[in-house]
Amino acid sequence: MTMPLLDVRNLQIQFNTGGGTINAVRGIDFSLENGRTLGVVGESGCGKSVTAMALMRLIREPGRVSGGEMLLETDGEIVDLATLEPMGPEIRSIRGNRMAMIFQEPMTSLNPLHMIGHQIMEPIMLHLGLTRRQARERAIEMLIAVGIPAAETRLEDYPHQLSGGMRQRVMIAMALSCNPSLLIADEPTTALDVTIQAQVLKLMNELRTRLGTSIVFITHDLGVVAQMADEVIVMYLGRIVEKASVKELFRNAQHPYTQGLMNSIPSMVLEKGERLVPIKGTVPNPMSVTRGCGFASRCPHVTERCRLDEPALGKTADGHFTACWLHDAAQGGGVSPS
Ligand SMILES: Nc1ncnc2c1ncn2[C@@H]1O[C@H](COP(=O)(O)OP(=O)(O)O)[C@@H](O)[C@H]1O
Ligand SMILES: [Mg+2]
Repeated sequence: MTMPLLDVRNLQIQFNTGGGTINAVRGIDFSLENGRTLGVVGESGCGKSVTAMALMRLIREPGRVSGGEMLLETDGEIVDLATLEPMGPEIRSIRGNRMAMIFQEPMTSLNPLHMIGHQIMEPIMLHLGLTRRQARERAIEMLIAVGIPAAETRLEDYPHQLSGGMRQRVMIAMALSCNPSLLIADEPTTALDVTIQAQVLKLMNELRTRLGTSIVFITHDLGVVAQMADEVIVMYLGRIVEKASVKELFRNAQHPYTQGLMNSIPSMVLEKGERLVPIKGTVPNPMSVTRGCGFASRCPHVTERCRLDEPALGKTADGHFTACWLHDAAQGGGVSPS
């Protein structure tokens, strides 16, 4: 068996607010092989971004990783990211070097006060130990790679001089400039218009093929998942409710929540000549769900059992895991994924 690049086990994330403890992520497991893309999908608030931030060790008070392991393979050794000092030297050297993140809003990582050339060159000099001149060459190369015209003159631009799509490309160039093994992309195209979104997705797929980068691709859009991912985890209220290869998930979605998401994608539904059916209701407040399945209040198939006990993620087909009482494996008390 080959060692995965990333192996997340029983990850738990809590926020201790004045109003009580929010269990934002409640014990999730997933792994990612080299060169693969894992899609993480689910509605707003299900815990996608905090999972990404936990991997980068960027969760700040009142939040914390309250349990589990995040094992990253680096140069043949396994590092548990969960045990690293949040601001310490180890995570700093992994961040931007082995592992990089792109955010929905590029201004999260771009400094408005510095020219973009400077911002791309700094981490290159720091992590790759290149001289200023070499870093400049590398920066130009990366801007060309992400399709920015007149790359050399762009180095002197400030972020506000670029369009949203161009800023997103600069952020991708920055993230990839040190050849990270793992790229975490949190809704990287959600703020872009459809045409630019398609260009950026195509670009990410090309770069991934060329550089062999593994990607955790977070989105609330199953259509984007279909284009980008090899494997998918579907999250709801801080849990994984379904996990499968992208092909298997689209052929055979088993969890009522995943089925609901599929029915609300226009292109998928209109092909079949059916009506768009949004999932009824809204995601409940995580503090209000104390027992049972988190999806029970919105589920068209809910039974009494669903309101009482939470089903575990169980194997329901080859390489396919579902947390739902409708499915046999979960009925048996849940087979933990192997
Ligand atoms: N700063 C915070 N303070 C309190 N709770 C938070 C904070 N950030 C996130 N949460 C909790 O974590 C949950 C998951 O948030 P997030 O990961 O941002 O969701 P999304 O899936 O939309 O990216 C939220 O629903 C909220 O309950
Ligand atoms: Mg988010």
